[in-house]
Amino acid sequence: MLTKFERYPLTFGPTPIEKLERLGKLLGDKVEIYAKREDCNSGLAFGGNKLRKLEYIVPDAIALDADTLVTVGGVQSNHTRMVAAVAAKIGMNCLLVQESWVPHEDVVYDRVGNILLSRLMGAEVNMVDEYFDIGISRSWEKAVYEVKARGGRPYPIPAGASVHPNGGLGYVGFAEEVRAQEKQLGFVFDYIVACTVTGSTHAGMLVGFAKDGRQRTVVGIDASATPAQTRAQVLGIAQHTAALIELETEIVEDDVVLLEDYAGPCYGVPSEETKEAIRLCARLEGMITDPVYEGKSMQGMIDLIQKGFFPEGSRVLFAHLGGGPAINGYGYMFRNG
Ligand SMILES: Cc1ncc(COP(=O)(O)O)c(C=O)c1O
Repeated sequence: MLTKFERYPLTFGPTPIEKLERLGKLLGDKVEIYAKREDCNSGLAFGGNKLRKLEYIVPDAIALDADTLVTVGGVQSNHTRMVAAVAAKIGMNCLLVQESWVPHEDVVYDRVGNILLSRLMGAEVNMVDEYFDIGISRSWEKAVYEVKARGGRPYPIPAGASVHPNGGLGYVGFAEEVRAQEKQLGFVFDYIVACTVTGSTHAGMLVGFAKDGRQRTVVGIDASATPAQTRAQVLGIAQHTAALIELETEIVEDDVVLLEDYAGPCYGVPSEETKEAIRLCARLEGMITDPVYEGKSMQGMIDLIQKGFFPEGSRVLFAHLGGGPAINGYGYMFRNG
């Protein structure tokens, strides 16, 4: 599905799939739970989902002879960390706009985790007072303009690398990879659970799995707390990506399965239930999920299993999309474990 697109390799190759035996057992062995470890996909600054997307974006930046990658995210954005790592790897400069998306006060929030790593990798970090919004940010547009004014050649990458024309391609590749792994495993996953915010991870998966009619088995767990906007963005990216790869199936609104119950109280702040899911997963599986993204999708998956959302005997694949470094910004919250 992707052979006609240029790809700049940033990841190790297919990510491992492992069974979460102890978590499954605790939840009554009603379903089999597996995790696809996108959090272990690369040696670049702890990896994560953005690298699959950036593999199809970097060739354009190189072809246009850009010298500075410019992107935007929250203070503890994983995406900005990944762009900083890619810029270092390909020898470009990097300008990051870090907006105050999260009403979370921890004394070291702007000095540890993702932002620390971005600074370490040489990115220029601009802290900006702006609210959470997955759309096009004014301060990001301004940063692009500033690079030009300085005589640089900026390459703009939107929040989460999502509304870039190639933003959905990487996760089409994820679906193809899962299909190949299913052949080796000798079974097919009934559901794929993934955290959704800026939308191109979900959109790419949906398009990739639509090839064999499985688009509605992708269950997105919203972590944006602005689900109407996220849903519309997933649909838009999916339809655009489907056209790009010349998919024969039409993607319609009902193909976007996005569950809204786990994002609260707001983007970047975990509920008590999310914190419990993070602890449970860490203690049973040694698998680290974060309070912004994967903790919420983990909580969602656990709750859905408990409620019987997945028919008994289903095989559920949890897409672990990364995000571990952000937990350092929540040190006080988890001071007692
Ligand atoms: C760790 C992690 N999980 C999930 C997501 C959601 O992916 P997307 O923004 O493509 O919806 C992101 C980024 O926003 C992320 O950093």
